[in-house]
Amino acid sequence: MSTANLTQVDNYNYGIEKIFEKAQDFLPINGTDYVELYVGNAKQAAHFYKTAFGFQSFAYCGLETGNRESCSYVVSQDKIRLVLTTPFNPDSNISDHIRRHGDGVKVIALWVDDARKAYNETIGRGAESVLEPTVYKDADGEVIKASIKTYGDTVHTFVERKNYNGIFLPGFEKWESEYNPTGKGLKYIDHMVGNVELGGMNKWADFYANTMGFANLVTFDDKDISTQYTALMSKVMTNGNGRIKFPINEPAKGLKKSQVEEYLDFYGGPGCQHIAVATDDIVYTISEMRKSGVEFLHVPGSYYDTVAERVGTIAEDLAILKSLGIMVDRDEEGYLLQIFTKPVEDRPTLFFEIIQRKGAKSFGKGNFQALFESIEAEQERRGTL
Ligand code: FE2
Repeated sequence: MSTANLTQVDNYNYGIEKIFEKAQDFLPINGTDYVELYVGNAKQAAHFYKTAFGFQSFAYCGLETGNRESCSYVVSQDKIRLVLTTPFNPDSNISDHIRRHGDGVKVIALWVDDARKAYNETIGRGAESVLEPTVYKDADGEVIKASIKTYGDTVHTFVERKNYNGIFLPGFEKWESEYNPTGKGLKYIDHMVGNVELGGMNKWADFYANTMGFANLVTFDDKDISTQYTALMSKVMTNGNGRIKFPINEPAKGLKKSQVEEYLDFYGGPGCQHIAVATDDIVYTISEMRKSGVEFLHVPGSYYDTVAERVGTIAEDLAILKSLGIMVDRDEEGYLLQIFTKPVEDRPTLFFEIIQRKGAKSFGKGNFQALFESIEAEQERRGTL
């Protein structure tokens, strides 16, 4: 596939404002509330996210706060909150999740003004319940949570916190730590991608459309996202205000095993493939993350030979972008800079994307080829291609 093939007419030509208007308003979402990962050792995972990604200690619950089932370390950076949870009991659902999937995203929590309404609207449209609306209280007020199933064992939790003044959620206390590495400029979650089984993309895109009122922002087929060996297809779903964007990937037929199949094999089914976080200064962010030991996918040096003619003038120094492995893409509204980490656990499953948008609202289609070849090189090294 050459970049010349990357001309598929997509929804961008229709206008993003109209796409957002199409998304239904029965489920107003203020933004991502938190992302909870079930991990084998939350204490050590929290240290990793603080050291490597520049997250700050934020909140904690565990034995000391009266939680005999599990402990959770919450780390934050600007608007991003990651909850890292480890169970104490080998027979718990959390233990089952970790045994099956390894470390991974369990909850993508959505901040709403009315969790009961969010639950009733989505259940009424066919969502499967995980947790009925439940009130959690402590001295700082109350939070209402309700959860529905999405792909695999992943859930969406609606969080209503307008009557709560505590640090995070009832049961949590402020996490005071003497180890406070400086932030690395990560600001908010731009999008979160789900990998689903062959044939599952349309099912889950329909779920987000029909059950949650999302609209289809853009679709990539296997002509867009394929190399000599592997392919995938993707539909990007967005809520009405554009703050929540969920691309859904499924593997497509290729000569060798696609990265989505590799993920499904190692994760034991569908799950969150990557979390894309935004920065205002990607050169600073990636310089600092590299110094802290974060590993990124290798971009071939030849990528930078043609990038200038593809994306035109940009404010950043290409030599610096090349030295850091940051990729560039342009759409009708501007450009974006992006880079992808290697998986952040031993199974080749969840990874992160760091993205800086300079007007562009798209997802780096012009970088797919270089990116996929880089992922395939990693698969080759793992013997999973
Ligand atoms: Fe992404």
